[in-house]
Amino acid sequence: MGTRRVFSGIQPTADSFHLGNYLGAVRQWVDLQESRETIYCVVDLHAITVPYDPQVLRRRTRIAAAQLFASGLDPERCILFVQSQVPEHAELNWVLGCLTGFGEANRMTQFKDKSAKGGADSASVGLFTYPILQAADILLYQADEVPVGEDQRQHLELSRNLAQRFNHRFGETFTVPAPYILPAVSKITDLQDPTSKMSKSSSSPQGIIDLLDEPAAIRKKINRAVTDAESVVRADDEAKPGVTNLLRIYAALSGEKIDDIAARYGDGGYGGFKKDLGNLVADTFGPIRERTAKHLADTDALDALLEDGARRARAIATATMAQVRDRCGF
Ligand code: ADP
Ligand code: NA
Repeated sequence: MGTRRVFSGIQPTADSFHLGNYLGAVRQWVDLQESRETIYCVVDLHAITVPYDPQVLRRRTRIAAAQLFASGLDPERCILFVQSQVPEHAELNWVLGCLTGFGEANRMTQFKDKSAKGGADSASVGLFTYPILQAADILLYQADEVPVGEDQRQHLELSRNLAQRFNHRFGETFTVPAPYILPAVSKITDLQDPTSKMSKSSSSPQGIIDLLDEPAAIRKKINRAVTDAESVVRADDEAKPGVTNLLRIYAALSGEKIDDIAARYGDGGYGGFKKDLGNLVADTFGPIRERTAKHLADTDALDALLEDGARRARAIATATMAQVRDRCGF
């Protein structure tokens, strides 16, 4: 069997990725280049399922790509492209939409969560059918594996069902993608509210660390992270969610075991531990921030890299679509 092919996408919905995105997605993408054939996509078509500003979207798409290259995605070892530059995504989306039952789509729980605020009536149909476009993204590239966290399991299940349904009805066409369970990086939580996940929609900017934050800002945020009154560095999700989150970040960035880190700092208080962690995060993100700035200072070169990625992605996508069109009777 040849090298297994992985597909994954990320939305360009903020002016920087945050520490949670970095540990939960970006760094995993970089690592997977070693062992897999990797195809990665900035999914701008997914980002327009909610109201948005075209200028902001264009800026964020470039920033997302620049950060991914700066974090270590290597055009020699992966394909990185922007979804809207490969029109086959939208075409396959339609075909798969016609194979998806309304009830089946209606059972996707993320739509209910995401549309909760404004209510389902004011949400777009695009947001409702988002998981079908996600299936099209994956199936177009005949991906063997898709990295998934818990929140994406239901969507991958839909992709698998649609691949099997199409194959059964029209003949063997799609690889049925398997989940690639990410190595145990648990959710990184908000520094000011350590029981909720770090998210771009966090209420306090002090609670999230952006990949593009200045080193001084990173140190300050870690220094002010919410902990507890015990003053002992040890992991305990129930009693010490703040310190446990900091230990998790430390372990993920240093490669050390949480127990070893806790043993080293122990009851020496939080000050020294936070200072070292602040330096660790700042030293990790600093070079990425500088490389991101270089990419963004030369958008012609960045766009050329992305065009080349789209050209290589499209070669695969058009081959799949040629088969699909033939099987569908077009
Ligand atoms: P956000 O929660 O900020 O809106 P997204 O939902 O766009 O972020 O997530 C993009 C990627 O980053 C996904 O792969 C997701 O699993 C990962 N991710 C987001 N937040 C975290 C977090 N706090 N900890 C670990 N991974 C995260
Ligand atoms: Na997500």
